[in-house]
Amino acid sequence: MFEDMKTITGESGNNERKNSRGIRVGTARINLVCGDITEQETDAIVNAANSSLMGGGGVDGAIHRKGGAEILEECKIIRQESYPEGLPTGKAVMTTGGKLKAKRVIHTVGPIWYGGDKGEQELLSQAYRNCLALALENGAKTISFPSISTGAYGYPIEKASLVALRAVIGFLEKNEGIKEVRFVLHSIHDLKIYENTFTEIS
Ligand code: APR
Repeated sequence: MFEDMKTITGESGNNERKNSRGIRVGTARINLVCGDITEQETDAIVNAANSSLMGGGGVDGAIHRKGGAEILEECKIIRQESYPEGLPTGKAVMTTGGKLKAKRVIHTVGPIWYGGDKGEQELLSQAYRNCLALALENGAKTISFPSISTGAYGYPIEKASLVALRAVIGFLEKNEGIKEVRFVLHSIHDLKIYENTFTEIS
């Protein structure tokens, strides 16, 4: 299942070399890289948002900061027209990528970790599946994910990586059309956890 470890230059164009690992699922590739999601040149990147869609810290803050006001403007319209009460956990919506390299941003709300018996696993799985379904519906063939819910929302990354990879592999086994799913981890530490999980389930 694993292709050889290959190195890629840093997404931000610097010479920092990063490792990436990939597996093929049907006609799609799943790649794990260490980098900054706002620098990814995939058709879509996923934002780990909150239900307000009005921005925040972490990935959310970085995407709004770099993507510019256009993204927030479209989020406000989505809130008014479709989600006046806020985007429910596990759902996904799409906006322009604004000034980002990616053409689109898919905003999803991951579950807050309360210990694991409040349906967190299914909600996290839904978030990944709904982002992929929305990408496919809109012709986005390459998509980058951050490690949803494993920052401010406190989902243990070892557990979250298992849910994330299983949800993505399961979706790709049932649906054609996506060419690449890229997990963009913000540290080598997180990348190694995802790689270990990859190895466990492959
Ligand atoms: N690129 C890639 N990954 C990143 C980046 C980045 N630029 N910045 C942070 N991360 C990583 C974090 O290290 C963590 O592993 O993304 C993962 C998710 O962290 P958060 O952004 O905190 O997202 P989450 O845990 O889902 O919490 C969402 O935080 O920022 C607020 O508005 C957001 O309320 C929402 C909550």
